[in-house]
Amino acid sequence: MRSMLILNGPNLNLLGTRQPEIYGSTTLSDIEAMCRAHGERIGVTLDFVQSNHEGVLIDALHAARRSKDGAILNAGAYTHTSIALMDAVRSAELPVVELHLSNIHARESYRHHSYISPVAIGLICGFGARGYTLAMDALFSHLEGFG
Ligand code: DQA
Repeated sequence: MRSMLILNGPNLNLLGTRQPEIYGSTTLSDIEAMCRAHGERIGVTLDFVQSNHEGVLIDALHAARRSKDGAILNAGAYTHTSIALMDAVRSAELPVVELHLSNIHARESYRHHSYISPVAIGLICGFGARGYTLAMDALFSHLEGFG
């Protein structure tokens, strides 16, 4: 069994009702259920965490350092602002997949820069809620050394 942290940043607790034209109508708890079901299929246990607070996200990455094989991070708007979160990803010494529901490169220019991308193993964006299970597969493949 592999273990993963799926970490969600600010405003993602409102998924389903928040700008559904951009983020879709799937709620974060629907996504958690999808991820848990997918984890059972592929042999992955997971912690699924959401916080609107930067420090809580950093603490979750520190806690994952020794206890998880890797992490998936949708840092929300902190993606574009937080050097502290970038440092936490680096310090976690874990493979991290950066994730966004929307295609941040097709949106406002202030969303084009990511502090997470340079410290992530890769980026999945633009596939909506399905991106979460795609990210699990990507991280799993990385951990197993496929390809
Ligand atoms: C997001 C994209 C960010 O730019 C935005 O601030 C979010 C959500 C996404 O999943 O598409 O909160 O990370």
